Amino acid sequence: MILKDFVSFVTGAAQGIGREVALELARNGSNIVVTDMNLERAEETSKEISSMGVKSMSLRLDVSNPAGVEEAFQRAVKEMGRIDVLVNNAGIVKDALLIRMKEEDWDRVIDVNLKGTFLCTKEAVRIMAKQRFGRIISISSVVAFMGNPGQANYGASKAGIVGITKTVAKEYAGRGITANAIAPGFIQTAMTDALPENVKEEMMKAIPMARFGTAGDVAKAVLFFASKESGYITGQVLHINGGMYM
Ligand code: NAI
Repeated sequence: MILKDFVSFVTGAAQGIGREVALELARNGSNIVVTDMNLERAEETSKEISSMGVKSMSLRLDVSNPAGVEEAFQRAVKEMGRIDVLVNNAGIVKDALLIRMKEEDWDRVIDVNLKGTFLCTKEAVRIMAKQRFGRIISISSVVAFMGNPGQANYGASKAGIVGITKTVAKEYAGRGITANAIAPGFIQTAMTDALPENVKEEMMKAIPMARFGTAGDVAKAVLFFASKESGYITGQVLHINGGMYM
């Protein structure tokens, strides 16, 4: 129970990696604020967590909406009392080769993945600075480091997450807040299930471990960063990709 009495705020926690992260943190004693655009599925995750003996609440949240983010954090603190951990997980793709990429698709991906991380981090550090303790964990991607055809918007948003992580790490180290990023490779979720089979086969060839990752592989790393035990690690990027990029 390394997170006993913690409160963790997870974005995009209705499914996939975010859901598994919320469950893993709860298994280790944390109370959870489950947030997502999809309230119905967020409620399902939250119910499952409540049955594990910790407190949980669910909120509909579009992380790209500044007023919505502010309100969500206010409601979370009112109900849960504090916020120890923020997991910036909500993310989307809108793929197209550069010359065909629509400006609106560039903007939406940057708004959700990068601006969403900025808005949530800003609200979280206000609360964490008063507590003199906090853990910010943001989900980047291997695409930020390797590039990927069709993902100029996504790759830029995920590289931006590394930039904000390092700056927040420096600005808030003195307040007991750490900020780290995780860069997963190919993880089996709805986001990657949508890829054509031939693309998946090509990707598999690039993975020395010859398997795709699971949401659990990512959740275990989030758990470590969330714990008190990771306290001397900040501004780092942890790659979880079966050796695809090193
Ligand atoms: P997913 O598509 O299965 O789940 C994403 C969740 O975010 C959904 O529940 C969705 O409703 C929610 N969401 C979407 N837009 C939102 C918004 N504006 N505000 C709040 N919630 C929103 O995706 P998956 O695979 O679980 O990905 C989670 C994170 O991990 C994303 O940031 C993704 O970019 C990142 N990632 C995923 C990889 C993979 O291979 N699956 C690899 C590297 C990074």
